[in-house]
Amino acid sequence: MGRCPDCGAWGSLVEEPLGAGVSGRGIGPAPSGAKPVALAEVEADRVPRLPAGVAELDRVLGGGFVPGSVTLLGGEPGVGKSTLALQVAARLADGGRGVLYVSGEESAEQIRLRADRLGAIPRGVRVLTETDVDAVLGHWRDLAPDFVLVDSIQTMRCARVESAAGSVAQVRESAAMLAAAAKTAGSALVLVGHVTKEGTLAGPRVLEHLVDVVLAFEGERGHSFRLLRASKNRFGSTQEVGVFTMGAQGLAGVANPSELFLAERSTDAPGSCIVPILEGTRPMLVEIQALVAPATYGVPRRTCMGIEDGRVALLLAVLDRRSDVDLLSRDVYVNVAGGVRVGETAADLALCLAIASSRLDVAIPGDVAACGEVGLGGEVRRVARLDLRIAEVERLGFRRVMVPRGAPAPAHPDCELVRVSNVGEAIAWLRASGSGHVS
Ligand code: TYD
Ligand code: MG
Repeated sequence: MGRCPDCGAWGSLVEEPLGAGVSGRGIGPAPSGAKPVALAEVEADRVPRLPAGVAELDRVLGGGFVPGSVTLLGGEPGVGKSTLALQVAARLADGGRGVLYVSGEESAEQIRLRADRLGAIPRGVRVLTETDVDAVLGHWRDLAPDFVLVDSIQTMRCARVESAAGSVAQVRESAAMLAAAAKTAGSALVLVGHVTKEGTLAGPRVLEHLVDVVLAFEGERGHSFRLLRASKNRFGSTQEVGVFTMGAQGLAGVANPSELFLAERSTDAPGSCIVPILEGTRPMLVEIQALVAPATYGVPRRTCMGIEDGRVALLLAVLDRRSDVDLLSRDVYVNVAGGVRVGETAADLALCLAIASSRLDVAIPGDVAACGEVGLGGEVRRVARLDLRIAEVERLGFRRVMVPRGAPAPAHPDCELVRVSNVGEAIAWLRASGSGHVS
């Protein structure tokens, strides 16, 4: 079959001959090799680490790469995967590690140009422009590097598989061969993989089970802000995120993302509300902006950047039904400043306040932040880790934070807690405490 009857993709079927001796029934003769051992007797040595030297990356990895492990670095084209890869390669080489940088996409000259841009030329990085896996493995054996980077896995091919480079069969077989080499040689291996917006295309998705760590590098086009998360980590938590900005000299770590997002905020404009969101266990303050305008044509427009359309539509309906904010035949535009994507329902209350603030033309006071989930009944619900969020709000000098009425909170917060139980109360508070024209 040329086409998969299940997903409809062309050329994605791979022949997998069953070896002799697969009988299907019974458990067969006792296997040689590994024997069952008592779990309690397994030595739980601390995993050795190869710190990447890029603090935000090491945070996500849980202290560095593990020798012999495979890490998949996925992201959309242009997000900065090759840049991060080269920066890590340079740091490791500077630390005296052997580094092999395999590129199937760019010439050695192009990589050199990028390295120039990133600053000092790393002396110890060996660049290999090659797409044939067997050839790569040959050089790998000769050089015995501590760290191997393959950019990208979609360009690699091995002769035994007939389909084109980038097909599922090639990607899977090449990755399996490289991963086996990493285990044997004890080198840490990073595979760079392109993902499209839909996350499909013979890409990293088919590799996720094969690798030890899956990193996703995210960012909006036209914004410098980048987020690195682990969606799988066999050696650490998946709760840590790394924050970077892309600048003229490559990627720079951001230790305090809230300050970055709030830097350009104007405090007296209606339609803006600050919310402490959580990325993993890392709180960061982001600004949600809304603009409500009379609809020019029949059907009102609703345009959302950085937040899911469906969530905004839901909250607009709640506001319309559960409060006195009239949004009928109004265009509504929502934006999260700085190119951040907010996926948390904890941002609901701030979004409702931003929309109401724009509609009523009342600015939310500059020292106020808000967080809470909003239900269909208009009720404001609790959010996870309110303590972390309030601590971040306090750290950045906010004096008041609107929170769900029943939510457990620190006993003696440095900022005033404005407790609300539904959106109606939140909007009544806004009318009373905001500044500007109230209609
Ligand atoms: P790149 O790492 O090539 O992305 P990927 O490998 O994920 O496709 O970098 C993408 C963009 O980053 C590119 O458009 C240029 C920009 N860039 C900078 O802004 N500053 C820099 O120092 C570098 C090296 C790249
Ligand atoms: Mg690249």
